[in-house]
Amino acid sequence: MADKQVIFKIQRFDPETDKKPYFKEYSVPLIDGMTVLEGLSYIQEHIDGSIAFRSSCRAGVCGSCGMHINGAYRLACETQIANLESDVITIKPLAHMKVLKDLIVDLEPFWEKYRSVKPYLIPGDPNPEIERLQTQDEREDLVGMIDCILCGCCQAACTMTGTDEEYLGPAILFKADRFAKDSRDHALKERINLTGGAHGVWRCHTIYNCQVACPKKLDPTGAIADLKRKSIDRGTRISFWGKI
Ligand code: SF4
Ligand code: SF4
Ligand code: FES
Repeated sequence: MADKQVIFKIQRFDPETDKKPYFKEYSVPLIDGMTVLEGLSYIQEHIDGSIAFRSSCRAGVCGSCGMHINGAYRLACETQIANLESDVITIKPLAHMKVLKDLIVDLEPFWEKYRSVKPYLIPGDPNPEIERLQTQDEREDLVGMIDCILCGCCQAACTMTGTDEEYLGPAILFKADRFAKDSRDHALKERINLTGGAHGVWRCHTIYNCQVACPKKLDPTGAIADLKRKSIDRGTRISFWGKI
């Protein structure tokens, strides 16, 4: 039995039975190397089986355990309790998304926006006989772009996402720029059309919350700036209120 206990203060909410969210506290025995996700699993298995949260890979790969932990968005599976340097771990779900239960939010609007920017290569020419080649330098352009795990932490940290529910948001725009940057993609004009307009890149006020929030230390703010630059380079800045 571990000597030290840590308090998990978790935002609970079941829309079927609760009028509003509330916090509930659980005491968890702290084991060396324990992550926040392991603490949540302990609560679910040993104290309160009704608590709801998402997780899958437990290795910082799947992006399903993004949540607000002690004042910052983090991946629960990558967050060591000891590193939080607090005896109380306060956990809330991702912001600006409808809570389905406790720490689980409705990601369907997020995926709808994701699909809307066509997050796949659009080569636009006949298929090559064997493969689409990319030089080492062209591949270098994608460093830091392909590591996004779509955890939604940046999306939740963005103030503009909070004030405009139609705003595509940093996670989606980051993914759009990943394909706009790919030398094998030939759909730049279409991508600028899809990400411009009143709820696209020009809604971003370059506040950098998204970059600070990213648990993978990626740069969605820079990606949005890159899309803005591409738009201006093509003389399409006028697209604020509509398509080019
Ligand atoms: S830089 Fe733009 S996308 Fe990122 S948090 Fe700020 S407003 Fe949102
Ligand atoms: S850019 Fe970072 S915070 Fe945003 S979805 Fe991707 S991994 Fe998560
Ligand atoms: S459980 Fe997959 S990223 Fe945390």
